[in-house]
Amino acid sequence: MNHFTKFENKELSQKLIDLALAYKKEPRKDQHKGDGKRIGCIFLNPSLRTRVSTQLAASNLGVEPIVLNMDKEGWALEMREGEIMNKGTVEHIKDAAAVLGSYFDILAIRAFPSLTNREEDINDFVFGQFVRYSGKPVISLESAIRHPLQSLADQITIQEYCKKNENPKVVLTWAPHIKAIPHAVANSFAEWTLGMGHSLTITHPEGYELDPLFTKGATIETNQSKALEDADFVYVKNWSSFNDYGKILSTDPSWMLTEQSLSKAPHAKVMHCLPVRRNLELSDEILDGDRALVQKQAENRIYAAQSVISHFLDS
Ligand code: CP
Repeated sequence: MNHFTKFENKELSQKLIDLALAYKKEPRKDQHKGDGKRIGCIFLNPSLRTRVSTQLAASNLGVEPIVLNMDKEGWALEMREGEIMNKGTVEHIKDAAAVLGSYFDILAIRAFPSLTNREEDINDFVFGQFVRYSGKPVISLESAIRHPLQSLADQITIQEYCKKNENPKVVLTWAPHIKAIPHAVANSFAEWTLGMGHSLTITHPEGYELDPLFTKGATIETNQSKALEDADFVYVKNWSSFNDYGKILSTDPSWMLTEQSLSKAPHAKVMHCLPVRRNLELSDEILDGDRALVQKQAENRIYAAQSVISHFLDS
């Protein structure tokens, strides 16, 4: 694994999950493993969990984390080859990424999609430019199309709460939102859940089909009630339309997950990556009740990042 950007294979993923669970029991067991190393965490977009959990993970391994909020503190970057830079951009990505590569042993990048240029987003253009020009291992802190550290934390959480059920029914349900939201979390959750061999049902209104690259092998069901029947894990997430790229086609409040929606899934645990819009995507009663795993997922973000950084320190 040269970079951590996606699900690679079940064997590696299980290894990362097992290591993460070992770190959860004893976070500082490898506290000197990364002595003298630095990780640069570069954010082109806002973050709470990813920013803090990655720093904690690095610190637990003795790696020094340095965060650059590129969107607020860095120069405006030019991403395109051959541009005459006589407009707003100040520094070319090939110069900035090369400098960052020379400062750090590992880079970690967050670069959201534009949601206006489907071709560029599908090809993860901005994230790819950092990978291309930094010359260092790069960890995705969420790119245009994937959020692998979130998905690793989600699979850790499913494994922790799945002890009595070796073949859980996992459902990914679309939820309403007022903003156009990227596809990365939904794509990655599908990719990792299917990759780990779980059965996955995806439910969404017509027009919200995800990129088939990520959903091959999943059952697609546009009737949410039917999809939720007997679910063991329900992952709630909004995403904008992929086919009508970046558009909001529905804000139908009946898609918000409530206790009533789960009347035929009495044992279902409910997941969300956070931040969540309460009483729009998910009801208070669920988020504040016993079904919710959202805080567990957020805690597991530390150990997911720690296992990935540790893996890079071994390479
Ligand atoms: N789930 C997640 O990635 O949270 P942040 O956007 O706050 O980092």
